[in-house]
Amino acid sequence: MNGVFISFEGIEGSGKSTQARLLFKHVIDNGFDVILTEEPGGTKIGLKIRELLLDSENKGMIPHTELLLYYASRAQHINEVILPAIKRGAIVITDRFTDSTVAYQGYGRGIDLKLIFSIDRLITAGLRPDITFLLDLDAETGLKRNIGVNKTDRLELEDLEFHKRVRKGYIKLATKEPERIKLIDASKGVEEMQNKIALIAKDFLNKWL
Ligand code: TMP
Repeated sequence: MNGVFISFEGIEGSGKSTQARLLFKHVIDNGFDVILTEEPGGTKIGLKIRELLLDSENKGMIPHTELLLYYASRAQHINEVILPAIKRGAIVITDRFTDSTVAYQGYGRGIDLKLIFSIDRLITAGLRPDITFLLDLDAETGLKRNIGVNKTDRLELEDLEFHKRVRKGYIKLATKEPERIKLIDASKGVEEMQNKIALIAKDFLNKWL
């Protein structure tokens, strides 16, 4: 039996990495074979690409370079980590995947979505998460939370308007694919979100088993 592919998405400060970790722990505690991974990154090569992408010194990086680097990291991640785990029947939880590229490089940077989807077909061969948790939060609150924890990478330094476009992009994606993308109100507390996500995941995994 093939495994399950779960992703977490959201703007900066939405708390998705915390929720991905909590779900990972919850799924392990229930005796499943599960891995937690992230993009950009997830592999040794991917982590080097992540450094390039997030280095605030790389202000001159043009949108197409950025797009291709995210896909370079994803190509490595899919082949080295995601597909082998899914093939052995494991549950893969990733902190970000293709929806991030559509939201950030597509809606945020304004790169033509057709171009993104044509590169996507080449790199992912249509691989999509079975279920995605989109932690939705207004951009002002997200950025304020991030300043609170002193996060200042190249993308986080983009202005509020950029992050508002990213959020809008995510909401469009969720409207188009309501079956896959589960919208979670990220203005709620950690525990409330965690309980909601665990319930949806349980329901989903029961159908898969
Ligand atoms: P993280 O802070 O959630 O680890 O993500 C790193 C940054 O990379 C975050 O600002 C979102 C951005 N990103 C994109 O712009 N496009 C992508 O395809 C991915 C995976 C992340």
